[in-house]
Parts: sequence; C-alpha cells; structure tokens
Amino acid sequence: MIRKKIVIVGGGGQIGGVVAMIAAQKELGDIVLLDIPDKENLTRAKALDLMQLRPNEGSDVQLIGSGNLESLADADVVLITAGVPRKQGMSREDLLNINLNIIKGLAEGIKQHAPNAFIIITTNPLDAMVYAFYKLSGLPKQQVVGMAGALDGARFRTFIAMETGLSLKDVSCLVMGGHGPTMVPVTRTATVSGIPLDALLSSEQIANIVERTREAGTELVRLYQTGSAYFSTASACVELAEAYLKDKKRVIASAALCEGEYGVDGLFIGVPVVIGANGIERIIEFPLIPEEQAMLDKTIAAVRDTVAETGL
Ligand code: APR
Repeated sequence: MIRKKIVIVGGGGQIGGVVAMIAAQKELGDIVLLDIPDKENLTRAKALDLMQLRPNEGSDVQLIGSGNLESLADADVVLITAGVPRKQGMSREDLLNINLNIIKGLAEGIKQHAPNAFIIITTNPLDAMVYAFYKLSGLPKQQVVGMAGALDGARFRTFIAMETGLSLKDVSCLVMGGHGPTMVPVTRTATVSGIPLDALLSSEQIANIVERTREAGTELVRLYQTGSAYFSTASACVELAEAYLKDKKRVIASAALCEGEYGVDGLFIGVPVVIGANGIERIIEFPLIPEEQAMLDKTIAAVRDTVAETGL
C-alpha cells in the first residue's frame, strides 16, 4: 500500500508541531510541515527532530519541512493550523481579519495543488474561517471540515470525568454549534456507560461543567498568556484525519456545511457528522428539545454575524 500524504499548513507553529508528532506516532502517513518561507528552517528542524523520535515509536513514516506551497501536491489530507492564535485580551473575532487574509492565500494554493485532499481547518474564528475557505476554494462540501466539536467534546468529556471521578473511557457526549461561548453542550445525551448524566451529578454541577466547557479555550488563553490551546487542539485534529484516512465512519461533531439540517442554511455549524473515506459522508439529524433548539438558534445567529464580517 502506498503511504498517505499529510500536509500540515502552519507546521512551524504550536498546534502544527504536535499534530505532526501524534500523526507520526500513529503512523498515519508521510508528513510535510509547511509554513511561510521565513519559517522553512523551523519546519525542517521540527521534521528532523521528529524523524529522530521515530525509533522509539517504531514508526517508519517520513517527515519533511517546507516553505513552499508546491509541497501540497498530491496530499491526501491537508490540516490548516496556520494563523495567529488568540492572545489574552483578544476575542476570537479580533483574529478575523488577520486570519482571513491567511485563509484567502491558502484557499487558492490548496485548490491548485491539492484539489482532492480532505481539508481540516483549525484556524480561528473557526466557523467563519471554514466558511471562507469553502467559498474561496470552491472545493466540494464533503471535503471541507472545521475542527470544533472534537475539541469541545473532549473538553466536556474531561470535565464530566473529573466531576464524576469516573473513567474518561466511559464518557460519551456531544457539543454542537459554533466554536465559541455560544456552543451547545447537549447535556441530555451525555452518558457514563449509558447512564444519563443527571443520574450522576446535580443540576448545579452539570451547569458548572457546561460553563467551563464553553469557556475552556478562554481559560487556557488566560493561563498561557502568549497563545492558545495546542496539545488538545492538535489531538482533536488528528482524530478527524485518522477517521478519514482509515475510513472509520466515526461520528464526530464538526463544523460542516448545513443546507437545511437543524434549521441552518448555508453556514458551517458544529453538527454530528459521519467521517469516512468520502470525507463528510453525512450529517446526522436527531430531534432536539425546544431548549436545545433555542440554544442552537442563538449560536447560529452568532456564527452568522461572524461570517458576515468576512464579507463573503
Ligand atoms: N502559510 C503557512 N503558514 C502560515 C501562514 C501561511 N500563509 N500564515 C501563518 N502561518 C504559520 C505561522 O508562521 C505559524 O508558524 O502558522 C503558524 C501558527 O502557529 P502559532 O502561531 O504557534 O499558532 P497555533 O497556536 O499553532 O494556532 C494556530 O489555530 O486554533 C487556532 O486560534 C488558533 O488560529 C490559530 C491557529
């Protein structure tokens, strides 16, 4: 079998480096760390450093660094982690203009060099950046996904496990909506081995977990001071890449183009999707109760406002 090719755009950055490490450890494919020309040496250093981590992992994938968009050629997966991270005092929306310009340049380059790749976007403000990439690249909607619910769900799971004192392995949950403070952790469907959350925690404990999940990104920005989350973000990105490369048919909440689903039309919103060899194979719809739909409507409005700021 020919090895898959994974290109990490923003490979010189914090998230990009950890994505490369996890993907190499999992032997998902050969990896290119791609960044701006000024950071070519940094990407080469990271690639070489990671090459020398492989013996302990028994991983035979190859890693290279690059400052040239032509390295995107024949990619199977492109992970976009390029962009300025949110810093303390900056809202996700503050990032919009800087990161929109980066996405504009990349949409063109990726369409030209890797038109068949599955594109996983992490750049914030996430929902607007995925929308912009989709509009500007013209790639099919099945091929473009925003990484949001995988990370927000991981945060929700983490806090449920911490509060119940039970194993993370048994926690299952879903976070829908935009990747920001209006996101919708669907507490009704969260379980520990099938046991509903409200049988294990008080309503006050659940409300606190929901709030902490919504603010988890901001909590980390406050602690890091000079950047935003990257270990957990990178891991969540790799989860999507792996689902695609291994045709897993995983059900992972992700920002996908909705065309009528959940009352959303023409926006990328976090919804449960099936990810397999055809990219986003389908969006799974299930009935929400009125309070959940009301929260979703609120997050849709917030995403629509951010998308409007892109002018696209
Ligand atoms: N092409 C390739 N790489 C680029 C480009 C570009 N046009 N523009 C910027 N980059 C690179 C930067 O040079 C940097 O190496 O993207 C990298 C970003 O890395 P960091 O600054 O360390 O940021 P990181 O924490 O990895 O976050 C990246 O993901 O979650 C989001 O909000 C976060 O938007 C931010 C992005």
